[in-house]
Amino acid sequence: LFAPERANSKGFDLYDPADIARIEDARSPWRDRQWAAAPLLAEDRDDPDRKPASVVNPANGDDHVGTVHEATQADIEAALGAARPWNAAVADRAAVLNAAAGLYEDNFGELFAILTREAGKITEDAIAELREAVDFLRYYAAEARKAPDAEPVGTFACISPWNFPLAIFTGQISAALAAGNAVIAKPAEATALIAHRAVGLLHQAGVPRTALQLLPGRGGTVGAAITSDRRVGGVCFTGSTATAQTINRAMAGNLAPSAPLIAETGGINAMIVDSTALPEQAVRDIIVSSFRSAGQRCSALRVLYLQEDIAEPFLKMLFGAMDELAVADPWTLSTDIGPVIDAAARDQIRAYIDAAEKTGNLLKRLAIPDRGTFVSPSVIRVSGIEEVTREVFGPVLHVATFAAGDIDHGVAAINATGYGLTFGMHTRIDDRVEQIASAIHAGNIYVNRNQIGAIVGSQPFGGEGLSGTGPKAGGPHYLPRFGKQAAIAAEP
Ligand code: NAD
Ligand code: ALA
Repeated sequence: LFAPERANSKGFDLYDPADIARIEDARSPWRDRQWAAAPLLAEDRDDPDRKPASVVNPANGDDHVGTVHEATQADIEAALGAARPWNAAVADRAAVLNAAAGLYEDNFGELFAILTREAGKITEDAIAELREAVDFLRYYAAEARKAPDAEPVGTFACISPWNFPLAIFTGQISAALAAGNAVIAKPAEATALIAHRAVGLLHQAGVPRTALQLLPGRGGTVGAAITSDRRVGGVCFTGSTATAQTINRAMAGNLAPSAPLIAETGGINAMIVDSTALPEQAVRDIIVSSFRSAGQRCSALRVLYLQEDIAEPFLKMLFGAMDELAVADPWTLSTDIGPVIDAAARDQIRAYIDAAEKTGNLLKRLAIPDRGTFVSPSVIRVSGIEEVTREVFGPVLHVATFAAGDIDHGVAAINATGYGLTFGMHTRIDDRVEQIASAIHAGNIYVNRNQIGAIVGSQPFGGEGLSGTGPKAGGPHYLPRFGKQAAIAAEP
């Protein structure tokens, strides 16, 4: 009999009234609730020096979501001193991680509410985020059982970004724990409440508190301290390329030379659409890839290369589809695009769009609500990807055109950025798919579909070059990097 060891989670169908009612019933009690986050250590300790910071909903500054108490130096010292690898049998660790997956699912209403009110996630994204977190837990539990003799590295520092504050946070932790390590987790500043709730559920499922501790706080203090302490045996990081480089330097100066750094970083991702593409499908996939999650995905499409023969009608169709997008409060089910994470991000991206308007290159900008940290989904004309000198982490799509027969120039320019995360292609010429896919440097290549939303277990996700160290998350090569033999094997 075929007995799969694991299946990905099912989620919810937002076209099914019964599922909509389940979501509304489960999350409505959390509409006005507040949460608190503080260090979660092996042993409880009070510390009057922990600085409190207020968390507000990015869509509505009047909505107070909770308070975060930042870890102090004494908390950091306590966590480093108390961390102990999780020395339970692999089958027991896997059972606990599977139990945690169940608890995540049971608490979906509360988790959706925090994801929306703290991180600005629309419901569809909150559903996908919870599913990915659950899938990571079950996937790494199953992978760990395949290597029962693997030896853990020791203590892993897991440092995560705010844009997948449950999925990536859980993915890093569950991989390190599945391999038997201790974890000290430092969530992003903006999303400590969901991290605190997730660690609470992991402890409730049975992860020992010596094996999993949480240190909310700033990157430059808490993050810098744990990535430069010799008691840490390895670092798993997801975030910007610049931060990964800083961590790499800190590790090189302090940690053992064999200490692994697993870094998943940024990208300037491109898509090529030629004149054989089906425009209705390409337009839909471009909208999803560029603007879904308000463009706050490392995988998001940033630069569209459009064959010049079709550019005019194609852009007309794209702008028409953009006009249908609902940019609004993410709690409302019909919202397509919510706010960006905070006022600093909003101001920076708006300034970028304004600058394009001044040079006459702004092709399209949508209207947005007049409160909260919303940014207009926008389209900017460029001559090529070389004009986009940094990752603009919001709903901004750049468009360049290419002449028929001159795709090679675009491919070379895309590779020359040095990034290599996602790449998309819309064409109905099979030979062209083969030729471009083999020439392009990117971790995940998507053909005739959107280029976001990799699925755990079936689409391992990760980049090359400036986009990350590999191995890909949610794939079979990830877990060995959290074990000792892999660390030794990685030495030159
Ligand atoms: P960021 O680099 O600013 O922060 C990421 C984490 O690093 C945060 O927890 C932060 O506090 C911490 N940090 C900052 N300075 C540090 C230091 N000196 N030492 C240790 N830790 C430090 O990134 P962000 O703004 O939170 O996230 C957005 C970025 O993440 C984008 O560049 C995006 O492309 C990238 N990202 C990549 C992936 C991927 O899988 N490749 C996934 C999601 C996000
Ligand atoms: N894994 C996320 C995606 O594929 C970042 O969009």
